[in-house]
Amino acid sequence: MKKLIALVLALTLVLSASSAFALTIGFSQIGQESDWRTANTDNVCNAIEEAGWELVYSDGQQKQENQVQALRSFITQGVDYILFTGVVTTGWDEVLKEVNEAEIPLILLDRIPSCVDDIEYAAAFGGDFVEEGKRMVRWLANYLEKEGRGEEEINIVMLEGTTGADAQVGRSEGILAELENHPNMTLVESQTGNFTRAEGQQVMETFLNSIDDIDVLLAQNDDMALGAIEAIKSAGLKPGEDIIIIGCDSVKAAFEAIVAGEMNCTVECTPLYADFLIPTIEGLEAGETYGRDIIHPEEYCYDAEGGIPYTEDGEALSIKAADVIDERVY
Ligand code: AHR
Repeated sequence: MKKLIALVLALTLVLSASSAFALTIGFSQIGQESDWRTANTDNVCNAIEEAGWELVYSDGQQKQENQVQALRSFITQGVDYILFTGVVTTGWDEVLKEVNEAEIPLILLDRIPSCVDDIEYAAAFGGDFVEEGKRMVRWLANYLEKEGRGEEEINIVMLEGTTGADAQVGRSEGILAELENHPNMTLVESQTGNFTRAEGQQVMETFLNSIDDIDVLLAQNDDMALGAIEAIKSAGLKPGEDIIIIGCDSVKAAFEAIVAGEMNCTVECTPLYADFLIPTIEGLEAGETYGRDIIHPEEYCYDAEGGIPYTEDGEALSIKAADVIDERVY
């Protein structure tokens, strides 16, 4: 009899532990390539855990096949929601249709897959990468104008993100489109630095060794800009003075570089999606629907002095990084 009571107690404990979480959320993350990514992972994972939900987290380590495997494993586990951002834009059609067939609500975050129009999703939040690229060039043009260099011939090098990533494709498109408006600016070289500091540094070294006159570096994220700063210093040049450096993301380390005079501007791409995500899941649980719009968070642009226009209408002005550096948590 004692044995039977012990067994019943043990079973009760197991059952209550397995139902302790109201929801189970699978999150297929890309990897850990940048400060942005770390902040995004922490923000999303902490919020899920603080909401009292179970998190099944998978780090894809920059490999599409790992992410495909993770998505299939979420289906097998029968999670309640899937959060997904893909390392590249293409090649997700099949596995995301499997997610749809399993009727697991899919929430797209950050990088949106190219098959977005052919799949069902419950909500989508991502950066406006094309606009971010345009802002980088608009800020540059207005800064040069302010410095009395608006008519000068300007040689630009570009560090691109991971080839085929939504953030790389979109930022490249925006940068190239905006450069069309500035015939005095020439993109002399462009290569991927894979969104990492180490590769940003290596590629910048090769640029410096092969190109005589570099006026501007456009780095498609801050990590690559920060790596490039090291390469520029090693070449005996002054980053931020001899070469104008514009990054993207607006992480704290970029603010520090701007305050130190080694970087000129960072265009914001926020990694903080928790404030959208948690209310959205709560809303979905309550029967709300969110349509097919991709929500872009409001974002800004930061530099040393502030006051430089960066939007098409010329109305939004850059913010002085030193004024906000203490508030930046990532
Ligand atoms: O998808 C967002 C981009 O990915 C960020 O700009 C970059 O830093 C990250 O690795």
